[in-house]
Amino acid sequence: MKKMLVLAGAAAVAMVGSMSVHAADGESVYKRGTIPTCASCHDFGAAEAPRVGHAGDWGERLDKSVDELVATVKAGQGAMPPMGHQASEAELRAAVEYMLSTLN
Ligand code: HEC
Repeated sequence: MKKMLVLAGAAAVAMVGSMSVHAADGESVYKRGTIPTCASCHDFGAAEAPRVGHAGDWGERLDKSVDELVATVKAGQGAMPPMGHQASEAELRAAVEYMLSTLN
């Protein structure tokens, strides 16, 4: 009986885990959601992309609202191609929020 409860608990945890990936998971959009991936430029600063984890790269961009940042990503800017046709607005927003969360 005790074993049954443990198994049921594990299944519940597994379900919650997969649901959170399904809802726009910013980190997975960032790493796998588009071609090229956000990570391919923003991990290393390719073409002077502001890097995740390096607040100093972001400069005045940090004064922008998330809406403004998402709008830029949708439309593209400089070396960044427009990403709006590859991912939904919600996915792009989640990716941007993930990126901002690395800057603290
Ligand atoms: C081909 C490389 C490349 C890819 C792929 C890329 N970016 Fe960028 N990104 C850049 C560069 C370069 C800039 C700086 C553009 C500029 O300021 O001229 C930038 C700027 C940004 C900014 C700042 C926008 C602003 O308003 O100043 C955000 C946010 C961002 N990218 C998010 C993303 C997200 C999210 C993805 C994936 C969906 C992504 N980028 C994919 C290269 C890339």
